[in-house]
Amino acid sequence: MTSRHTYLLALLLLLAACSKPTVQIDPVDRRVDSLLSLMTLEEKIGQMNQLEGAWVNDDLDGQIRAGQVGALLNVVGAEKVNHYQHIAVEQTRLGIPLLLGRDVIHGYKTIYPIPLAQGATWNPDLIREAAEMTAREATSDGVRWVFSPMVDVARDPRWGRVAEGYGEDTYLTSVMGRATVIGYQGADSLDAPIDGQHVAACVKHFAGYSASEGGRDYNTTNIPEQQLRDIYLPPFQAALRAGAGSIMCSFNDISGIPSSANRHLNIDILRNEWGSRAMLVSDWGSGSDLVAHGYAANRREAAYDCISARMEMDMQGLVYQDYLKQMVDSGIVTMEQVDDCVRSILRLKMRLGLFEHPYAESTPDFYADDALLLARRVATESTILLKNDTLDGQPLLPLHGVKRVLVCGPLADAQKEQLGTWIFDGEPEHSITPLQALHEPGTGLEVTYEPGLTYSRDTDLSGIDRVVKAAASADVILYFAGEEAILSGEARCRADITLPGAQAEMMHRLHLTGKPVVLVVMAGRPLAIPDEIGQADAVLYALHGGTMAGPALADVLTGLAVPSGRLPITMPRMVGQIPIYYNHKSTGRPATTPILLDDIPIGAPQFSIGQSSYWLETGDKPLFPFGYGLSYTTFSYGPVQIDETEAKTGDVLRISCDITNDGSRDAQEVAQLYVRQQAGECRPVRELKGFKKVSIPAGQTVNVCFELDTRNLAYWHADLTNRADPSAFQTWIAPDSRSGQPVEFTITE
Ligand code: GLC
Repeated sequence: MTSRHTYLLALLLLLAACSKPTVQIDPVDRRVDSLLSLMTLEEKIGQMNQLEGAWVNDDLDGQIRAGQVGALLNVVGAEKVNHYQHIAVEQTRLGIPLLLGRDVIHGYKTIYPIPLAQGATWNPDLIREAAEMTAREATSDGVRWVFSPMVDVARDPRWGRVAEGYGEDTYLTSVMGRATVIGYQGADSLDAPIDGQHVAACVKHFAGYSASEGGRDYNTTNIPEQQLRDIYLPPFQAALRAGAGSIMCSFNDISGIPSSANRHLNIDILRNEWGSRAMLVSDWGSGSDLVAHGYAANRREAAYDCISARMEMDMQGLVYQDYLKQMVDSGIVTMEQVDDCVRSILRLKMRLGLFEHPYAESTPDFYADDALLLARRVATESTILLKNDTLDGQPLLPLHGVKRVLVCGPLADAQKEQLGTWIFDGEPEHSITPLQALHEPGTGLEVTYEPGLTYSRDTDLSGIDRVVKAAASADVILYFAGEEAILSGEARCRADITLPGAQAEMMHRLHLTGKPVVLVVMAGRPLAIPDEIGQADAVLYALHGGTMAGPALADVLTGLAVPSGRLPITMPRMVGQIPIYYNHKSTGRPATTPILLDDIPIGAPQFSIGQSSYWLETGDKPLFPFGYGLSYTTFSYGPVQIDETEAKTGDVLRISCDITNDGSRDAQEVAQLYVRQQAGECRPVRELKGFKKVSIPAGQTVNVCFELDTRNLAYWHADLTNRADPSAFQTWIAPDSRSGQPVEFTITE
């Protein structure tokens, strides 16, 4: 009897057994159980094994043929995908197709701005479009599973992976992560099939990875349960509720328990509390890393710890392939534990339709015009105008009436660097740099180019003399500074977040020329650059903007586009302020009037300058707050209106205000809804509870209205109950996390 007849017979028997009136079994579950019933233990363990498919492993063919592999990563292109898929489908006993994953983090071939910049758009619809377009490109090359979105809420810009998330706020990250999942998978639904033009998402890294001590990657974290649940977990819930097909463990331990072995995280919360059925895959070797963590005594114990925490697929850790069979045979691991893992894996493969359509058609669809246009839109909307001084009676930007510009700096013409971190498939030669874009005839600019520094860490000052010389014949200097792509991303943490190399010196020398300087920063994180910003006359913070960063910046510089980006993360004055974030607690001594170090009288008596919570060098405030960004117009906010000043938990409050565009340019504004609970378990001074990016024509007024469900004021208390308190509250509708006039309301019960 062939395997297919066995399979059909088992299915018929199962159908017969199910003929009695019982609870409806999901047809996919029925298919999964039917297939599972045919599998040997070795075949089940094979499904739980993911191997790297491009450069690490040899004899992949043989391992796949032996049923020892359930998934690969880093195999792209129809030819390679189908080579391995043919072996799995046609040369193994049950013909179970492979799952093939790839790090598609912010675009596939067309590269979009890094996720931190995508967070700066505050435009989830746009980000969903970018994810869907990314899925179109990736699936045209055989990719069906992407290790994205990363929803690690990051408050520490020293951490290299701050580039890969959507910033420091839980709500903004939740909204952006959810939008990305829906774009990738093509639906907002728990178990909806994922068609051939869409990919399965893998929300990561579960959990608390971004709280790594010292902003040092892979480092330990100490996260109180309430903070874990209030700050770090909600974006994962949001992504899973949108139907994310998979979720990835994080490398860190939480207070001593590494995530891959964390039963509380992976079973109590993910499975039992949330009821998630997403497939849980390790991070690269994070299972075998338990030995390096000093958590498991050896790799065998590591395998036991991982299966005990229901880590379902082992990405290149090899602990399941090496030890799981003997542990099941010896009874210390049950077949049920294995079956639970394999069910998740088979269900995801069925959601992707891999049993029906395992093979990739070779229809590469890269760099299409609509994809490039979309990438340009995202890069434009992610650009943040931080400063725009008025010179000769008008703001320096946009460059109206300017003819001669000097383009300089190590990021002005850096095709690879502007793509940012985590670029596997994007090709730098397709990048359009700021220099190339500004040379376009349509800009009306006469462009002179002198890099000054050839790469961001360059310390050779000789080129700066040439820039200073060239400045003499320029009307405006456009200085493109920032970080090479390699200085951000995984394992790229910096203890000093200033401009690398001699870029600060170059800014100083440009300032001394007396010519207007526009500083454009293209980096993978917020940088602590107060002096450079002080010396510049205008500042655009663009982060790494991807393939179309150049045209987007040219559009903003020339005024074709009005900047609408807002900071998704606080910009510190100096690294010593970290961690510094907007939704901090008040403390018992909030900073009132800080006396700064240079203002302290010599010999001042110990208690003569007051005591409150700030740093002597900087005060308590960052360089720029979360949510901040300027425009080419100005907006004025009317008084906040609230429909009820007394409410009960469960009521929905309507909070609104008028916003007027006072200028002569149509523009977008990001209205932000914040609340503060006045009395509770030391609540944040502000919390973002909503935002709307609204287009307001020049001179017009729009009314922005938020519905605040008071159940969203709940938080995790020390007794680990999640509830809202009766309390007085303040609420703002404001342009950033430090502005606005609040109104009060009270929750009475
Ligand atoms: C890496 C990263 C993870 C990535 C995986 C596969 O170490 O932590 O984000 O998806 O391995 O490359």
